[in-house]
Amino acid sequence: MSSLPDDRRDRPVKSPPPPRPEIAVRTLAPLPPKPTLIDLLKGRLSIPGNGMKFAVAQHVCQSALQAKRAGLDEETVLACLLHDIGIGVARPDHGWWGAQLIEPYVSEKISWAVRYHQALRFYPDASVGYEYPQMYHTLFGPDFKPPEYIEAAYRYARNHPWYMSARSVTMFDEYSFDTAAPLDLDPFVDIIGRHFRQPPEGLGNDSTASSHMWRTIVDPFKPL
Ligand SMILES: [Fe+2]
Ligand SMILES: [Fe+2]
Repeated sequence: MSSLPDDRRDRPVKSPPPPRPEIAVRTLAPLPPKPTLIDLLKGRLSIPGNGMKFAVAQHVCQSALQAKRAGLDEETVLACLLHDIGIGVARPDHGWWGAQLIEPYVSEKISWAVRYHQALRFYPDASVGYEYPQMYHTLFGPDFKPPEYIEAAYRYARNHPWYMSARSVTMFDEYSFDTAAPLDLDPFVDIIGRHFRQPPEGLGNDSTASSHMWRTIVDPFKPL
């Protein structure tokens, strides 16, 4: 027989509340209140994220330095410097993310090269000595065939007047580099100044079609 008083005997028994979920909020070093492209490369994209083993900034800096030393034009050097910046937002389809991110701030040719480098990476071009990356055998498997949208992007880019801009990005897209090397953006300050329209209020504080994406890079651990 129950020991409960009569008025409590038929009440449903309350189960204990679920444990409060832990909200993991990592903190990052603060950025200047009006962050520039260089602030974000140094202060955010120099940290490996989104499942990558290497940091975007060190990798793109190396690509751009090789392109600059090879005497490529400034727009292509900047395309190399920005080519994987989309990984700061999302790793899949990073060429498309990256192009969308920079479109309000650079020439159409630069964002075009960033968008299509992703598809061109899968297709050799013997005329410039570009071979299929060995790393892709590991990443995608030995018999990988790119999906139709990548094939279509390749066919489109292959016949475009700007093909060599995107192809040049792939030629300097080298994954083997010294991860301990210091990040030196000094060689690119003037090129950025001439070809990247830095908003005076800071990236993410402006109101372009991609400002929210810059804010995601500024603070990738916001709960919402
Ligand atoms: Fe890439
Ligand atoms: Fe890359």
